[in-house]
Amino acid sequence: MSFVFILVSTTMNAQNLHRERLLMDKNWRFSLGHPSDREKDFNYGTSYFSFYAKAGFADGPASWNFDDRAWRKLDVPHDWAVEAPFDSKASLSHGFKAIGPNFPDRSIGWYRKTFFVPKSDDGKKISIDFDGVFRNSIVWINGHYLGVEPSGYSSFQYNLTDYLNYGGENVIVVRVDAGMEEGWFYEGAGIYRHVWLVKTDPLHVDYNGTFVASSINKNTATVSVTTTVVNGRKTSADFTLRHVIVNAQEKKIDSITISNLSLTAGASREETARVTVPNPTLWSLENPYLYKVITTIFSAGRSIDNYETTFGIRDVRWDPDKGFFLNGKHVKLQGTNNHQDHAGVGTAIPDELQRFRIAKLKETGCNAYRCSHNPPTPEMLQACDELGMLVIDENRLMGTSDQNLKELKRMIVRDRNHPSVILWSLGNEEWGMEGTDRGARIAATMRDYARRLDSTRLYTTAVSGGWGNGISTVLDVMGYNYMSHGDTDRQHKMFPRQGGVGTEEGATFSTRGIYLDDKEHCHLNAYDWDPTDWGASAEQGWSYYDKRDFLAGMFVWSGFDYRGEPAPFGWPAIASQFGVLDLCGFPKDNSFYYKSWWTTSPMLHIFPHWNSSIVRKNGEPVNVWAYSNCDEVELFLNGKSQGRKKIQKDSHVEWSVSYAPGKLEAKGYINGKKVLSEVIQTTGAGNAIRMESHKPEIKADGEDLAVVTVSEFDKAKRFVPDTNDEIMFTIQGPGKIIGVGNGDPSSLEADKYIDEITKLYVTDWKVKSANSKENLGDVAAATDDAGWTTISNGKDADGDANTIKMFRGKFEMTDKTQPASITLLLPRAAKGVFLNGQALQLNRSRSSVGFEASIEPSQWRTGENVVTIVAEPHREKQREELWALVQIIKSAGPWKRTLFNGLAQVIVQSTGEPGEITLKAVSGNLSGELKLSAKPAKARGGVE
Ligand code: GAL
Repeated sequence: MSFVFILVSTTMNAQNLHRERLLMDKNWRFSLGHPSDREKDFNYGTSYFSFYAKAGFADGPASWNFDDRAWRKLDVPHDWAVEAPFDSKASLSHGFKAIGPNFPDRSIGWYRKTFFVPKSDDGKKISIDFDGVFRNSIVWINGHYLGVEPSGYSSFQYNLTDYLNYGGENVIVVRVDAGMEEGWFYEGAGIYRHVWLVKTDPLHVDYNGTFVASSINKNTATVSVTTTVVNGRKTSADFTLRHVIVNAQEKKIDSITISNLSLTAGASREETARVTVPNPTLWSLENPYLYKVITTIFSAGRSIDNYETTFGIRDVRWDPDKGFFLNGKHVKLQGTNNHQDHAGVGTAIPDELQRFRIAKLKETGCNAYRCSHNPPTPEMLQACDELGMLVIDENRLMGTSDQNLKELKRMIVRDRNHPSVILWSLGNEEWGMEGTDRGARIAATMRDYARRLDSTRLYTTAVSGGWGNGISTVLDVMGYNYMSHGDTDRQHKMFPRQGGVGTEEGATFSTRGIYLDDKEHCHLNAYDWDPTDWGASAEQGWSYYDKRDFLAGMFVWSGFDYRGEPAPFGWPAIASQFGVLDLCGFPKDNSFYYKSWWTTSPMLHIFPHWNSSIVRKNGEPVNVWAYSNCDEVELFLNGKSQGRKKIQKDSHVEWSVSYAPGKLEAKGYINGKKVLSEVIQTTGAGNAIRMESHKPEIKADGEDLAVVTVSEFDKAKRFVPDTNDEIMFTIQGPGKIIGVGNGDPSSLEADKYIDEITKLYVTDWKVKSANSKENLGDVAAATDDAGWTTISNGKDADGDANTIKMFRGKFEMTDKTQPASITLLLPRAAKGVFLNGQALQLNRSRSSVGFEASIEPSQWRTGENVVTIVAEPHREKQREELWALVQIIKSAGPWKRTLFNGLAQVIVQSTGEPGEITLKAVSGNLSGELKLSAKPAKARGGVE
């Protein structure tokens, strides 16, 4: 194939057809199912023909016409595990959230979404992309089976083209089985990442179909763009491919056109083209500059597909002796390990919260992020690209079976255009094989396979033992998990051409704001004294890695706390305490240790806080520590010097101070000159609640959010570090609370306040023919129905299409309290519907699937309730299935959270409309208010 460079005239753009990538996050229906109780799983899989037997025969909720009106309406990303209560019988790894093997009622989740596809889409290729579903999902479209995806972390796509109703409604159904774990940390449950509907011409750029790589020579970058084009048309197609490179201001830099291409029907091909960028602005940590390739396919004189790939131009090099280089500049990797889990929302992290988390890590001086231990959501990588954070992207399970390699491939093909990704990790701590020949074979096969997909990056694996053998012998870059597990220097001598990085180190236990252990509450002091048995302290860890040039850096275990792994405790501790930031992202003292050696602007941090309830010592010695990058620090208590101390590199200074309330002040000196000071004072009790958003305004796009810090201040406007008051929140305006947290690793408070939906089937049906429609005497609850015919198995056997019939059924209300709403749902119209003798107003439901009636407080009663339906004569045979369902919605009550050592977090998301949001907080007689503006903004195009 030869490249022909021609200028494509602008007239070729006439009648352009463009690919559409529509967000499919809104308006799903959700219900829990059951792994073994068929009835609780809506009798799914019980029909004579299963969906595996006959195409389109999916049953239960998987069938196209299942009535899901009683199900909860929600938007994804959604994590149903985080909504569950805590239970000591639940899995420690999943943070004791009551799902999993002991909680079958909460282990299966069903999602259904009805959407319209216009007639004009007929002829396009339409597919659905899932960024990730935890886990073992089965997907159907219009009752047709599409596939099973075991991985909870891989992104996957199904082609819907042939199955759709064009000009009509379509139903996509997802059954999720979160009963088993893939990791040993909190993993959530459900469609916890975005879903997309993608419409293209059948001749189009493939799913994740570009690979953009650049090489820099002097002042010019050569960008190679490899594109996979698929011809899904019924006939062969001739086409032209055009790539335009634009800079961050969308200004065209270069372009290339490859013409005279053709593909037979059903075939695909890869085309590589090269373009140049003179004087490129390189992607760096300080200036994460992004370019874009806009790829267009032209066929028969029209543009028929356009595909955008964001990329960065940067040079990455691993030197076995000197470490890591970005654009020729040495960068010590100051990394953290992180799982996708945040306070309040679990794994369903909205995009802005991803950005918030990356920004928080950057505040500590962190420049690298290891996706432990699975491919992340694509938006996490986007945040790293845009904010400047280096990434080790990690595969979940090691192996060389088709399934294993497919998962590895999906990670690399999806993520290889992200400039932030600097290293691929084949896996983590495979204890069963890491020091063995089998491990070496498997890792080598994976590495070689992966290199064919991306040879521009190197491959590592995080290895926790058997160094010198097994997996450690075949890696480009050795991933050292904990220096206590072997000898890094020996490994380097044995494999002098291998790079090295501390993939995990500095695993310490500490609870934010705690300075004396309180084991009863599973709280551990924040001094960097007690590392885990296997880990080093922050200071030991970083000093070790900082000293050795051949080690490119160190990834702290962990950046954020996460649910699960509540070591060294079990129940009632529900979250890990390894983080340098807690579950909300509030910094722990260790984060300032890293900040002191990871950032260069002068900084100084002293601890503990100085309220007597925190130090719990009067007149007794208290350890006061300072983290600083100054040369010296002098400490004063109530104006009296406690001594001036020199700080050794990668270390800290400390004093033993006899406690007296008042003012603790530290002064930092550089070259003998005071450059800054830090004051901690004994405070009074809380006097007001303060709320601060991480940004002053949000976009009114239905996705953007504000992360709100809640705290109390005393009369002198000082932060009160030892209050644990419960705060109640209310919100007005175009914002909604989506989660609350406080970073307490043993808090069993709810993360979410979700209205509870219960569904009651109306049962014990009896039927009777009515003389005429006016004869409604029998609707009274007390009616003697002895003479009525019992309907067995829910079927009205003698269905006579010509008589008016009356059906009587019952449901039991056990709770006396008035729910937020009670609705009677019917599948079809009726002449009259009565509850306990009173007529109900029956309306066609908005989804147009059936009819519904709201039940007023005066119409229901505690105990037995009688529903009577006067049915229309039906022209066709009487529908055999006669049911009615009562949906009861119980309000969750106000959102609330206790402060933990003075802090809590509320996450407020835009509802989509512009305006002013008012968040109010109340605790006893204290109150606070936050006004947030939701600015008009265009929502991303989506499927409603
Ligand atoms: C490692 C493991 C991590 C985490 C960590 C705790 O062995 O790779 O996932 O469990 O220990 O220190």
